[in-house]
Amino acid sequence: MSRLVFLLNGPNLNLLGKRQPQIYGHETLADVERDCRALAAELKLDLRFHQSNREYEIIDWVHEAREIAGGIVINPGAFTHTSVAILDALNSFDAPVFEVHISNVHKREEFRHHSFVSLRADGVIAGFGTQGYLLALRRVARLIDDKG
Ligand code: DQA
Repeated sequence: MSRLVFLLNGPNLNLLGKRQPQIYGHETLADVERDCRALAAELKLDLRFHQSNREYEIIDWVHEAREIAGGIVINPGAFTHTSVAILDALNSFDAPVFEVHISNVHKREEFRHHSFVSLRADGVIAGFGTQGYLLALRRVARLIDDKG
């Protein structure tokens, strides 16, 4: 099983640390990437870390992952609640998928309670702050290790 993991971030997450810090915290996406790369090295995972504000780019990365990756960790941002296209792309990917939300979406507005991506995700982490990405990476590594 491939030890390559795609970690994908959707719209507005490039503003992490500046945007609504009372909800999303003070860490930047660069901080998150640094911590994820450090953990990936420890877990012997290869990491592709991407962010885009464009739906099609996220879909293209999922397509790229299809042939080569052992897992996907995705925070689709607001596309979580709107994108059948990202769900369809993830449904074409056979290895584990974990959905991460920095905030607890269930404690927030009603429109954030529904996730198209959750129809495919093998697990969902919400409300653990940016630590959620690290927990998801640990889970992917465990599943890859178990498969051998
Ligand atoms: C988010 C939650 C979404 O509802 C929101 O649109 C985001 C970020 C989170 O990480 O908590 O952009 O996915």
